[in-house]
Amino acid sequence: MALLGAGSLLLLLLLLLFGQSLGAPRSFSVDYKNNCFRKDGKEFRYISGSILYSRIPRVYWKDRLLKMYMAGLNAIQTYVPWNYHEEFPGRYSFSGDRDVEYFLKLAQDIGLLVILRPGPYICAEWDMGGLPAWLLNKKDIVLRSSDPDYIAAVDKWMGKLLPMMKPYLYQNGGPVITVQVENEYGSYFACDYDYMRHLTKLFRSHLGDEVVLFTTDGATLNFLKCGSIQGLYATVDFGPGTNITAAFEAQRHAEPHGPLVNSEFYTGWLDHWGSPHSVVSSAAVAKSLNHILALGANVNLYVFIGGTNFGYWNGANSPYAAQPTSYDYDAPLTEAGDLTEKYFAIREVIKMYHDIPMGPIPPTTPKYAYGAVPMKKLQTVLDALEKLSFSGPVKSMYPQTFIDLNQAFGYVLYRTTLPVNCSSPTPLSSPMNGVHDRAYVLVDGTAVGIFERDEVLTVNVTGKAGSQLDILVENMGRINYGRNINDFKGLVSNLTLGRDILTSWTMYSLSIDEAVSQGLLGENPPTLIDPPRTAAVTAPAFYGGSFIIPDGIPDLPQDTYVKLPNWRKGQIWINGFNLGRYWPTRGPQVTLFVPTSILSTAAPNNVTVLELEGAPCNSQVCTVEFTDTPILNATVLSGYKQYRRLYAKEDLL
Ligand SMILES: *[C@@H]1O[C@H](CO)[C@@H](O)[C@H](O)[C@H]1NC(C)=O
Ligand SMILES: *[C@@H]1O[C@H](CO)[C@@H](O)[C@H](O)[C@H]1NC(C)=O
Ligand SMILES: *[C@@H]1O[C@H](CO)[C@@H](O)[C@H](O)[C@H]1NC(C)=O
Ligand SMILES: *[C@@H]1O[C@H](CO)[C@@H](O)[C@H](O)[C@H]1NC(C)=O
Ligand SMILES: *[C@@H]1O[C@H](CO)[C@@H](O)[C@H](O)[C@H]1NC(C)=O
Ligand SMILES: *[C@@H]1O[C@H](CO)[C@@H](O)[C@H](O)[C@H]1NC(C)=O
Repeated sequence: MALLGAGSLLLLLLLLLFGQSLGAPRSFSVDYKNNCFRKDGKEFRYISGSILYSRIPRVYWKDRLLKMYMAGLNAIQTYVPWNYHEEFPGRYSFSGDRDVEYFLKLAQDIGLLVILRPGPYICAEWDMGGLPAWLLNKKDIVLRSSDPDYIAAVDKWMGKLLPMMKPYLYQNGGPVITVQVENEYGSYFACDYDYMRHLTKLFRSHLGDEVVLFTTDGATLNFLKCGSIQGLYATVDFGPGTNITAAFEAQRHAEPHGPLVNSEFYTGWLDHWGSPHSVVSSAAVAKSLNHILALGANVNLYVFIGGTNFGYWNGANSPYAAQPTSYDYDAPLTEAGDLTEKYFAIREVIKMYHDIPMGPIPPTTPKYAYGAVPMKKLQTVLDALEKLSFSGPVKSMYPQTFIDLNQAFGYVLYRTTLPVNCSSPTPLSSPMNGVHDRAYVLVDGTAVGIFERDEVLTVNVTGKAGSQLDILVENMGRINYGRNINDFKGLVSNLTLGRDILTSWTMYSLSIDEAVSQGLLGENPPTLIDPPRTAAVTAPAFYGGSFIIPDGIPDLPQDTYVKLPNWRKGQIWINGFNLGRYWPTRGPQVTLFVPTSILSTAAPNNVTVLELEGAPCNSQVCTVEFTDTPILNATVLSGYKQYRRLYAKEDLL
């Protein structure tokens, strides 16, 4: 038939080929009939990897995303940690390392789609699962439920975040194909369907009717029972070694039709201080991934890169076990973004199913061993108290918590006096296990012992009536999973001395980070020598040192790792940037990742250490050491309670 001329035939062809660029709308949806996702009308399957921007310095976002793209992933999955963006009620922060919009743009520029997980709760081994600690201002708040105060805060936060995310939805021209509501809600005791229905409405009202909203839960019916709800596409999560058929059968129970999705396929596993480093073999990961892809399922690898819990951002599990600073996770890209054997094993599997991008993979960034840096004692915490306590002391009969004192993270000093003569060792106790989480006890300035939540609830003290009793309490990270996420910090119940409750407390909120970055602790101290260290502890103190990046070596500064040989436990800053906690005596983490972005070639780099238990600085020079090799798997001390090795969410319950 000659109804169409050559010209119109060409036009028709063009329209068919380039319909999208000629204005056909971008779309992303669930195809229930064909059990798949549909992108711009075509069947689509994602192979995604998790990356959390808050654990990676901004300068490295592009490098990490590019490596993910080159592995053959077509999407990334990221959480939005609420407490990272709203540290104080109504004070939002979205710039620098917190510029989530820039992160989304980078992903899109590189060619990656985005699966967004804005919470409000995210778990993620992140302080309080991403919920801001200030929610605990209402003492009996029921988090992750219809509690009106919780809902009011969520509505306000989502009212800020979701409109900001809306332009990044796929149908609006952005990279975001799906948005998760809550996170593994079926693992939480509350099982509040009204809460989930409220979130659904809230997300819809801000993001529109078109976007695919989904939930993620452990791959068994008991998790899906409270986690999945009508209107949100139910997906599951499970790691290598799981019976994949059974896991997807569980998803099918909640979602009889539609794409199979594993939203968290574990590439490794988390660590806890005092437990052996988690390792999952590349072979196990590759084998299960292959099986999942062979079923035509969608998958997100959790995590593709873990990164670092800088500062105080790590979470903890219950019974109390804090996660270390490194969130390496034995992932395909290391904490520092290095390519691993697991990376290439995964790439080989993906290659069997999809074309993967040609061209060079960004190389592992070089690391440099700057060597040993001599450290000098600056001041003890007690000597520096005035400088550290920006807001001045607060007095009360009974101890107040961090939140009462308006402090979220770090350290608070609790001070009182011994009311009676303690001529023989007298038990100072926390009968209610209320020291959260670790505390350093001093009598008249001399360290006498350490409390540890769940572990050490009594410290013996001696001293005359009227002696000054100081208790420096460290918040080691809030519980991020399970029913105990209302994790108050500080002295959360009374202390007793002998049989009596201690009273008349003076409490100092410590602004240590501000004091360090403002150089208030002094840079050029007289050489203070610690008293010879015995087996016992010494008073918490600051130490300082500096190093210069050598001249004449090309490509410096480079990333490095710092270790603290013979130091015990504390916190370390470089040029005022809080690298995180160190605890080599507990392990398994020994080195801390130091990104080049915090180093300077223009001035000496200043290292500040807060050592809580005893520095190795008696008579000899003590050093911290910059090395080019990470150590995250030191043997943990025998004799310390070993936590079970956990490779499934079920085990955390
Ligand atoms: C895996 O689960 C399926 C479905 O429940 C079951 O039929 C099969 O026997 C299981 N396989 C193994 C190795 O346990
Ligand atoms: C403590 O002991 C001293 C003598 O060492 C005595 O003078 C004082 O009264 C005692 N104080 C209390 C509160 O018992
Ligand atoms: C405290 O002192 C008492 C009496 O001397 C002793 O029996 C007990 O073991 C000590 N407790 C601790 C925790 O050191
Ligand atoms: C401390 O003890 C007092 C007196 O018994 C009591 O009123 C108060 O509630 C207790 N505080 C805490 C945090 O347990
Ligand atoms: C380190 O401290 C010294 C002394 O205060 C200062 O001059 C220098 O600029 C600091 N270095 C950096 C990189 O901030
Ligand atoms: C730690 O890991 C390194 C590198 O994989 C390995 O060579 C070493 O044997 C491990 N050490 C321990 C104590 O497991």
